[in-house]
Formats: sequence, structure tokens, C-alpha cells
Amino acid sequence: MPETTPRGLTRLAFGGDYNPEQWPESVWHEDVRLMREAGVTMVSVGIFSWALLEPTPGAYDFGWLDRLLGLLHDNGVRVDLGTPTVAPPAWFYRTHPEALPVTAEGVRYEFGSRAAICHSNADYRAAAATITTRLAERYGDHPALAMWHVHNEYGVPVSACYCDSCAAHFRRWLETTYGTVDAVNDAWGTAFWGQRYADFGQINPPRLTPTVGNPAQALDYKRFADATMRENFVMERDILHRLSPGVPVTTNFMTALSQCDSVDYWAWGREVDIVTNDHYLITDGRRTHVNLAMAADLTRSVAGGAPWLLLEHSTSGVNWQPRNPAKAPGQMARNSLGHVARGSEGAMFFQWRQSRRGAEKFHSAMVPHGGTETRVWREVVELGSCLGSLAQIRGTRTEADVAMLWDWHSWWAQSLAWRPSEDHDARERADAFYETLYDRHLTVDFAHPEADLSSYPLVVVPALYLMTRAAGDNLRAYVENGGTLVVSYFSGIVDEHDAVHEGSCPGALRDVLGLTVEEFSPLLPGERVRVTGPDGSELGGDVWTEFVVPRGAETVWTYADGLTAGHPAVTRHRLGEGTAWYVSTRLGADGLDALLGRAIEDARIAPRTDLPRDVEVVRRTGASGSYLFAVNHTVTDAKVPLDTAGTELLTGERTAGRLPVPAGAVRVVRLDG
Ligand code: GAL
Repeated sequence: MPETTPRGLTRLAFGGDYNPEQWPESVWHEDVRLMREAGVTMVSVGIFSWALLEPTPGAYDFGWLDRLLGLLHDNGVRVDLGTPTVAPPAWFYRTHPEALPVTAEGVRYEFGSRAAICHSNADYRAAAATITTRLAERYGDHPALAMWHVHNEYGVPVSACYCDSCAAHFRRWLETTYGTVDAVNDAWGTAFWGQRYADFGQINPPRLTPTVGNPAQALDYKRFADATMRENFVMERDILHRLSPGVPVTTNFMTALSQCDSVDYWAWGREVDIVTNDHYLITDGRRTHVNLAMAADLTRSVAGGAPWLLLEHSTSGVNWQPRNPAKAPGQMARNSLGHVARGSEGAMFFQWRQSRRGAEKFHSAMVPHGGTETRVWREVVELGSCLGSLAQIRGTRTEADVAMLWDWHSWWAQSLAWRPSEDHDARERADAFYETLYDRHLTVDFAHPEADLSSYPLVVVPALYLMTRAAGDNLRAYVENGGTLVVSYFSGIVDEHDAVHEGSCPGALRDVLGLTVEEFSPLLPGERVRVTGPDGSELGGDVWTEFVVPRGAETVWTYADGLTAGHPAVTRHRLGEGTAWYVSTRLGADGLDALLGRAIEDARIAPRTDLPRDVEVVRRTGASGSYLFAVNHTVTDAKVPLDTAGTELLTGERTAGRLPVPAGAVRVVRLDG
């Protein structure tokens, strides 16, 4: 069995992508000296090195990598070794131009960037298998090797190719999935617009069509493209497991919902030995630390609650957004330790030394262009020392209070064309619900809609348009057995083939919610509705309204104006031992807070009114003890109440009663007992 933590690592992982091929070897010696100074424990190497390792077809040059791994080993730095299959060399594309991916419009990409790969291409697969085999044979039992890093961020920037070999591969995938072409016709509803197929040979990828194509075909193509990338990951992983037994294999995910939307991480999480993730702050004016917490919670959930590892984030600004602000003093440590609080076994960066050339020369790094006389370097050294004092938390698990349902297939389906309103965005609802829970200081686990939910007092469903019958039954059993459920509009509408469930909407949830929806009535841009509660309290909604007919549910808030005036806006249904809430409009932050406040009462969750806004408090617990992380994202000193006395691990001080957390600081208390 492969190990599930980086081999030989006895502390938290701290380091980054190390691309020494961009520098003369003399710099490598300075690199390892600085790595020791900063307390670096592991680096990721070789991710883009194929053209150096195999300069001409079949002729390998491992000399430089031998010297590099030897140097790192001599300096006590563990190695996360990349298979370079995200960057095939120029010579490969000269002989195999058809390995370059083709867009839905029929345009073939060119060599000259990275990740230009058709994952169905047989020559690419064979070449990837060969270079992986050669690396595993040479380094499979190297003493510096901690884990294998396959490829890089599958799905980014290209996730689907529409070429002829993908068409053939898609037909095989359909045959395996459906058996007969008639089953495909049924699943895709090809009776509509005369799209019926007489045999598999007539089916193509969803290429450019004059108007909207078949939505179920487009949804299946997402599944196919995801499964095809996964086939290639599994192919490399199995080679590594065979030739490098016991050493864990990972590939770096990008679970932040805005950064990679083409990969079903529930499925990928089951294939890797260690879940690893890359996370970058998106500077779109929203609170970046909330998005970070959400990505970290989602990553931990994809790992089944087990510890995972942050493989990339940035020391300061990135360079691929329209505007790339530097991080504020202390923000890097808050980001790194925020991930650790939510289950990461360390904090790694892109990248160790800032590039002088190439597309990423303005991206921050651990060693900036300015070297060691810089704020970033000083903060890197300080962070290394903080992580050094937290080694004992390894293996502990983050404790969650509530669950939020998330399913990539539903997101894909909901993002297809011709929905009631293009303003409805599943991700926006997930962000908004998450932010409300974050502000109530509740830690969120994400769960697949068919997962066992019985351990959670509260489950929220921000937007789950596609829901299988099994998921609907799962939610019903959850409520009947005493759970509290909160469901947002346009959920439970279609089955796995994007077909509307039979009968009134929302087909998968009618019984559990105790209502039907007769019509959707989305609002125009800028249009708003007022919603009033029994006590006269007023909330506001926009984007979406519905004509809801209660069938067992009680009306709690009612539309006060608009087309739906007088109809229920928020309902509550007692079912068995539990309660199911439904909200049929897009509430703002205050509305969501009011709604979740009521649901939290039903779920008997004690409110955390004793904690200031933007002071994040999370617990990790395990065999070595219980640890409380407090991250102060504000510019004001804060105090966090403690139930138990303990020792603060970054300052070494004893603490009891109220833990002082200075403005912008992080504190980690090992609780007594
Ligand atoms: C990641 C990628 C790295 C680097 C980084 C820059 O997505 O894996 O190679 O490009 O972004 O932020």
C-alpha cells in the first residue's frame, strides 16, 4: 500500500516549486543554503522538465537531476518529484502534431506555452508512459524522494479537446456507458429537434452548432473529458506504484471553484494517495480570506476529512489577473496558516526563486528578484519558523459544524445554455451561503449529495439543479431522521441526464420540502422584490422568484411585491423528526443570515456570538491533542474565549480564559487535557 503522507517528512511541508533549470548550477548552492535558512522541508521538482530530460527522442539526460536530488538530499530537503507530462517537448509535436488539442470551433492550438494536450491521443499517452517509466526506474527508491507529483493541474487551461481521435474515444466511452445507441437517444432526449442517432458512428463531440446544441450531450462530454484526463492520471500513477512501491502519488488539484471548473474532484479524490491543492487569491473586491477558507474546506472534504497538503500558493502578488496587488504584511502567514487550520499538512508555494524570464517573471516567489534584503524573504523565514513549531499537529483533523452539498456535475449542468435566467449562478449561491456560515463562525464540510449526512445537524443546499433520485431520497431520510435542511431555489430540478424529473418541480425534493413550484419568474437586471416575515421583518431578493404552492410546508416569509406578491418566498416543512427550509429568491447577505439564523435554531447549534467578525477560529483534533487556530484578519487586536487553558505554540506562552490575538496575527493553542 502506498503511504498517505510524504515519505520521510517529519515536520510540516514547507517549500515550493523549484525550477533550478532556469538558473546556472552555481545558484543551486545558494538555493540550498537559503532553503536551510528558511527551514524548507520539501520542494517540487521537474514538473516542466521533459525537454531537458529527453532533449531528443529516446536520448535521456538525467545527469543534472541526479546532481540536484543529491544536493537536496545532502541538505535535508525532501523531494516531490514531478512527471513532466504537462509539457511535452517541441520535438514531440513535430512528429505528432495531432496531439495538440482542438477547440469546439475546430481551431488547433500551437506549441509554445504549456498543457497543450489532447488526452485521447495515443502517441501522447505512449510518450507519457515512457518518460514516467524512465523516471520511476531511475528515482523510484531515491533517498530524497518523498512523493510523486503527476502532471500539473489537470483541466487547466484546456480540459476538453474536440478532435477526431476524441470523437472516436467519446463513441467508445458512450458505448461502455450506455451499451446501445438507443439508450443514448433516450438519455439525451434526441427526439427533440430531430437529433436521433441510428448508430454510434454518427455521434460527434458537441462541436460548434448554429444554435444551442443538445444539453445532455454537452453534459456527457464534460464527464467524458474529465474521465479521459483521469485515465491518463491513473495510467501514470499505476506505473509509479509498480516501480516505486510505497511512495505516495498525487496530482495538484485546484478546488477553488473559480479556478478549475472542469474536474470532478469527488472522483479524483478517490484516485490519489494524498490530496494536494493549489490556491491563489482572486482579487475581485471580495473578502479573499473567505474564499481561501472555502477552498480549503472543499479540499479537505475531497480528501474525505483526512489531512491534505497545500502544494502551491503565493508569497505575494500573482501575475495572471488584470491587476495583481502585493499581499499586505502578515497576509502570507495568515493565508498559509489558514490552510493549515483547515487540514493542510504544511504550506508550499509557487515558486522558490522568482524567474527572470518567461511568462511568470512578475509572479512573486519565496526568493524575490531582490533576494534576501526584502520583506517577502523576511516573512518567508518567519513562516518557516512558525511551521517548524507546529510539527505536532500532523495527522490531526479539522472539526466541522455543518455540511454544504456540492456536486461538479450539477454545476456543469446548471451552467449550460438556455436556462430561465443567465443571472443565476450556482457558484455565487455557494459563495454567499458559505460566507454567511463563515460569518457565524461555523466550519463547513462539503458533501456529495448522495453521501451519509447523518453526523451533521445542519445541511445547506445553495444551488443543486441536477439531483439524482437517490440524492433526493438521501435528503428525505436525513430530514426524517432529525436533520435540518436549507435548500435554495432551482435545486432538485433535473436528473443525471438533464431531464426534468417527472411531475411538478422540484421533482427530487417535492416531498422533503412539502411544496411544488408552478413557475419560475426570474427578475430583470436591477429589479428587486420585498419579502416580509410574520413579525413584519423585511428582506430583499433579486435575480429570481417563483410561484411556490405549499403542500405541507408553512409559509414563513411572503413576497410583498412583484409578480409573485402574496406567494410564499421562504417556507419551513416539518417532516419526521426534522425540518426542511426552502427559499425561492436570491436573498442578500442580511436575508441569508436571517434564514440561516432560524435554521441554526432548528438544528440546535449554539451560536458563536462571542467571536468578532473576521477572527477565524478553527479546531484540529487527533491523537496528539486538540489545537485551536485563531486567525485575526482585522486591524484590531482581538480576544478569543477559550473553554480550556493551553499553550500557544508560536509564542510558547501559557494562556487561559481569553486568548489575545493581535491585529493581523495568528495564534495556535494546544489545549490542555
Ligand atoms: C499554477 C501553476 C504554476 C504557476 C502558478 C502561478 O496554477 O500550477 O505552475 O503557473 O499557477 O500562479
